[in-house]
Amino acid sequence: MNNISVIKLEGEGIGSARTFLKQHGANFFQIDPVVTWAGVMEHLENQIFQYAKSKSVHVARNQEGEIVGLIGFQKKQWDEEHFGYPVAAIDYLYATKGSEGRAAADQLLHVFDSWAAAEGIKRASVRYMQQEEIASALLAHSFYFIENDSYLARDLTKNPPKENTVPSGITIRLYMPGEEEKIYEIVRRAPWTNRFHSDKTIEKTRADELYVKWVRGGISNASKRITVLECEGRLAGFMLWSYERIVSGGDSFLLGDQELVAIDPDFSGRGFARHLYNGCLVHMSKLGVSRAWTVVNSQNTPALKTLKNLGFSSVYTADVYHRQF
Ligand SMILES: CC(C)(COP(=O)(O)OP(=O)(O)OC[C@H]1O[C@@H](n2cnc3c(N)ncnc32)[C@H](O)[C@@H]1OP(=O)(O)O)[C@@H](O)C(=O)NCCC(=O)NCCS
Repeated sequence: MNNISVIKLEGEGIGSARTFLKQHGANFFQIDPVVTWAGVMEHLENQIFQYAKSKSVHVARNQEGEIVGLIGFQKKQWDEEHFGYPVAAIDYLYATKGSEGRAAADQLLHVFDSWAAAEGIKRASVRYMQQEEIASALLAHSFYFIENDSYLARDLTKNPPKENTVPSGITIRLYMPGEEEKIYEIVRRAPWTNRFHSDKTIEKTRADELYVKWVRGGISNASKRITVLECEGRLAGFMLWSYERIVSGGDSFLLGDQELVAIDPDFSGRGFARHLYNGCLVHMSKLGVSRAWTVVNSQNTPALKTLKNLGFSSVYTADVYHRQF
């Protein structure tokens, strides 16, 4: 029988989880072959340290006092406003392998359950790197599998995007104020397969409107960009993207995030997404971005094929689970 105890990590205490995170806290940056190991740890620790200041981070310890699991969760204000009831996300969920890790994941999820009950949470989600112990604990706590996501990245320094590849009649440019409604219309019409659309308990229009809200938030956020594709005088697609500075082992680089892309169904099947992605990569390169990444549902063949054709490679896969209370 595994004797696991769970404690809440407060402020500086996160430093005690350092060794555990190094071995088990795999995230996108740890897998990415381009980012250095020292930089990864610095980034992950900073992220969790900041997170622990305002949200809930707990660790599970075994009888010897070693950390064997970690969970971080929070209420999602944004989703709560949209759905009209409290929504939570488990942003970190790590456990060691074997029966001890399985027991740790279970105990950490019990802590989550109690918190969720006290907060009146009605819906929760978790995205984590596939691991048997965690999957089985999630299923035991009434979570259900939604999708597997692929994280893809492209090195823009070694493999810079080509300019002027757009066929005549097509324009790729930043969106102009006044075009918002046309962009929202594309969001509502696009054949999404992402996690809210894959969850049968969420109505399609609700999921569509959540994406409209995402794009609306992007339009009003100065650090985000929206690039559109214009064809035959109509907006045929858009991409929401952003970039940030990542500090990596004493060095730093700009990482571009291609957050959301959609092509109006009237224009699909003509490879327009490829032009949009490429147009954004060209813009990112000019801003000094050296690495671009994106995440798509692993079943989304049109998006995956487009990205692979553009020289993106898979660096990470994660499973998404949801739960209704
Ligand atoms: C993903 C999306 C933007 C692609 O739009 P598009 O450029 O019109 O895509 P296409 O139909 O031209 O397909 C792209 C490629 O996938 C291939 N493809 C499309 N459907 C396919 C299928 N079912 N099986 C195999 N290949 C397929 C196409 O042949 C094409 O390959 P090619 O470039 O080698 O010719 C569009 O489908 C969309 O808006 N989807 C909803 C939003 C979304 O999922 N966005 C991505 C995540 S944010």
